[in-house]
Amino acid sequence: MKDWTLEELVGDTTSFFSQHFGERPLLRRGALDASRARELLSVRRLDDLVAMEAVRPAYLRVARNGQGVSSKAYTRVVSEPGTALTETVVPEQVYELFRSGGTVTWNYLHHFLPSARHLVEAFTRAFAAPVDTVAFLTPAGRDGYAAHHDPVDVFVVQTEGTKDWRIWQPPAGRRSDSITYSAEQLGEPTLQTTLHPGDVLYLPYGTPHAAAAGEQVSLHVSVTVALRGWRDLLRETVDTLVADEAFDGFPHLGGDNPEQAAAALTEMIALLRDRLAALAPAAETVRLADAGRNHGGAGRTREFQRLAELAQLTPEAPLRRSSVPVEIGPSDGGRTRLSVNGHTLAVPDGIARTLRRLETGGSVAAGELLKDAAVTRSVRAAESLTRLGVLEPAAAPAKSTAR
Ligand SMILES: [Fe+2]
Repeated sequence: MKDWTLEELVGDTTSFFSQHFGERPLLRRGALDASRARELLSVRRLDDLVAMEAVRPAYLRVARNGQGVSSKAYTRVVSEPGTALTETVVPEQVYELFRSGGTVTWNYLHHFLPSARHLVEAFTRAFAAPVDTVAFLTPAGRDGYAAHHDPVDVFVVQTEGTKDWRIWQPPAGRRSDSITYSAEQLGEPTLQTTLHPGDVLYLPYGTPHAAAAGEQVSLHVSVTVALRGWRDLLRETVDTLVADEAFDGFPHLGGDNPEQAAAALTEMIALLRDRLAALAPAAETVRLADAGRNHGGAGRTREFQRLAELAQLTPEAPLRRSSVPVEIGPSDGGRTRLSVNGHTLAVPDGIARTLRRLETGGSVAAGELLKDAAVTRSVRAAESLTRLGVLEPAAAPAKSTAR
């Protein structure tokens, strides 16, 4: 499956960030073709998911007439021999609620659906902020939720059926919570539109909206981005600075000598001011962005794929040192001890010499890792060091297109 990019959804990102981001909605018709939209999520895939006992009920919600339905209405408690009691979704009860007009949502879709995880990756990269995904499955002709706004930026991807959207001008001032509105409060919508499969709609933070399914079952995925404001970012910066041991002390604030405590506070404020002044803004920006990207539930690893591709090492395959730390010990009887990722192994001195040389950059062909030895032996050693993560391909392996 092709990786997702923000551009695929919003078009030219320069014009998105200058004209729409945080300011006004963007409607992009046919951003994805119908099959690409279904690659993200299809109704058929939801049938598969509802049948998966491993998808915990907490991920699934049902709402009817704008109100949440208690999970007791569609779950049961099971006890497997030797395990604790667990709650599981009962597909037939979910279907019954859906047939009677309930909207079914899957929260944190990217926790269990790879395509959503891949999409989140693109958003996390672009916004350096926590990203969430929710799937909304609405029966034909039904309102999903009452008009409301969410305290996040929302990107809606319609994947099946159609949905009618009404959108209103955001109220002045940012509210940090979700708010439901009555029809009188909102008046006439500023935008009224029907989304078809592949259409993308961006709603800036706090934009009031309401959605209803058309004549068919409707499925859309909402990607939400919880941007951090200056208040959040500066708090993170100060938190990091005051983690230093210079701020370890415990002043006595309740004593008879408040002047003494005030003098100590003056010193601490001066120290914090100096530390803030010494910060390199460029480096701090990168650190804050990294922290935003590395929240729980984001990212993915491809270790199985990496290991599967290693079987294809040829004698010519160029390899370099990875960023994995390796401790190279002393030589003993022609073999050198290496410590890596909790493993200890002894390698011929020739390999240790090559590894030392690679510490400063450059690459080596797999067949030349161990000089003066048979090529097959060298390649085998290269494969085991690559498997351990000590070496990595210096160029993309030839057969690496599978995802
Ligand atoms: Fe919403």
